[in-house]
Amino acid sequence: MTQQNGSSKIKFFDGIDIPLELHKVRMVQKLYLKPIEERLEAITKAGNNTFLLSTKDIFLDMLTDSGTNAMSDEQVSSMLRADDAYSGSQSYYRLEESIQEVFGKKYFLPVHQGRAAENVISQVFIKEGDIIPMNYHFTTTKAHIMLNGGTIEEILYDEALVIKTDNPFKGNMDVKKLQALIDKHGVSKIPFIRLEASTNLIGGQPFSIQNMKDVQKLAKKYGIMTVLDASLIGENAYFVKKREAAYKNTSIAKILLEMCDICDLIYFSSRKVSSTRGGGIATNNIDLFNKMKDLIPLYEGFFTYGGMSIREIEAMAIGLRETTDETIISQSPEFIRYAVEELDAAGIPVVMPAGGLGCHIDAKGFLSHVPQSEYPAGALASAFYLISGIRGMERGTISSIRDENGNDILADVELLRLAFPRRVFTLSQVKYLIDRMKWLHKNRDLVGGLKFYEEPPVLRFFAGKLNPTSDWQKKLLSKFRKDFGDSL
Ligand code: F0G
Repeated sequence: MTQQNGSSKIKFFDGIDIPLELHKVRMVQKLYLKPIEERLEAITKAGNNTFLLSTKDIFLDMLTDSGTNAMSDEQVSSMLRADDAYSGSQSYYRLEESIQEVFGKKYFLPVHQGRAAENVISQVFIKEGDIIPMNYHFTTTKAHIMLNGGTIEEILYDEALVIKTDNPFKGNMDVKKLQALIDKHGVSKIPFIRLEASTNLIGGQPFSIQNMKDVQKLAKKYGIMTVLDASLIGENAYFVKKREAAYKNTSIAKILLEMCDICDLIYFSSRKVSSTRGGGIATNNIDLFNKMKDLIPLYEGFFTYGGMSIREIEAMAIGLRETTDETIISQSPEFIRYAVEELDAAGIPVVMPAGGLGCHIDAKGFLSHVPQSEYPAGALASAFYLISGIRGMERGTISSIRDENGNDILADVELLRLAFPRRVFTLSQVKYLIDRMKWLHKNRDLVGGLKFYEEPPVLRFFAGKLNPTSDWQKKLLSKFRKDFGDSL
């Protein structure tokens, strides 16, 4: 594999600043864009929940990058040499080697996906009444911590939740708040500190290596373990190279090693990091490893496959190495940056600076007339699918929970996340997204709220169903037909 710089190093003669694809497409999947009338039927049937749409009704699937990144030719071809064996598979040893090389961690435990790692870590290290400080939670992380009797404390800087700032590292942990937390609760209640790379739920926002070092210094002083959620570490490493002056000339490979070296334990969803499916936990500390080891055969599978298919293990070994390639790891952040800058220029409220994973539209700003109790992020996800065929994900109050009195706990931010899986979409498709979002913004007054008619008690965002609070979708459809004629 030849390493090279990302597309930001390539200048155009006429000065335009667009991300250039540094790959060619050799296998394609046909897409269909159904007429808006059929899209209205589909989203109505799905209870206005984009999780419940069928891909046959979707044009661009931007629900998530999880398990949907494009795989490389090297990855796909490696799957053919998989050494199928219940134990001792050569494929597994190749993966172990790749983990050591890319993350610098000697001991590895394979699991079937990221949340399985969270289950193992939470079961082993958390006891009733414990507190886990973190930059910000992820849905499954919080659920596993709570299931084991722990609670979470999110200690970001206040600016992290401001939609538009020029802070390059909104994912940084506030070290003063961390110190205050340790002073208040004492070390015995804090089994570990969790750092999440390219912090997902605040818009894929990175932390700096300096911040990681500051956190680790404090953790070391008190003998507290640090755990890194490395699911989106490649993108975070890219942002470090772009935004943290001291690392301007450091390779992504070296940045990754340094980030992993700072933390005692790392875990990841390889559905994201290595463009495969699966996950893992890695450490250089044999005692930590031994504490977790026995849970792998119990919940996941034997130590040399951990619930993953051997084919995926081969592809994962390659995919992890490809995370060190700037052309690969920069593709999604550069496409996101392009979309975010275009949307911002059109006056559309979007999380800035652009982060990893996707483009995050601020639904509270976009639909300021829709009260939070009527789920603006859910309404925006539904409206945007209706007028574009593009599926995004609600990351707001629908993804939150109710309190003991049955009232919604309103989310800190109401976001429509449009994920950019790596090397999946083309720039003209991104331009289509921008075009339709601009039209929706001009017609935003037509969009109304949503109301649950089926609401599961746990993780309601996956399966809950909602109705529009009025006939606003029909009005939006009529306006679309008026403006676009017979366009799809
Ligand atoms: N940690 C982070 C930061 C994640 O983004 C995810 C998944 C997980 C852990 C859990 O991993 O899905 O393999 O069990 N994020 C996906 C998403 C689901 O759409 O953002 P998993």
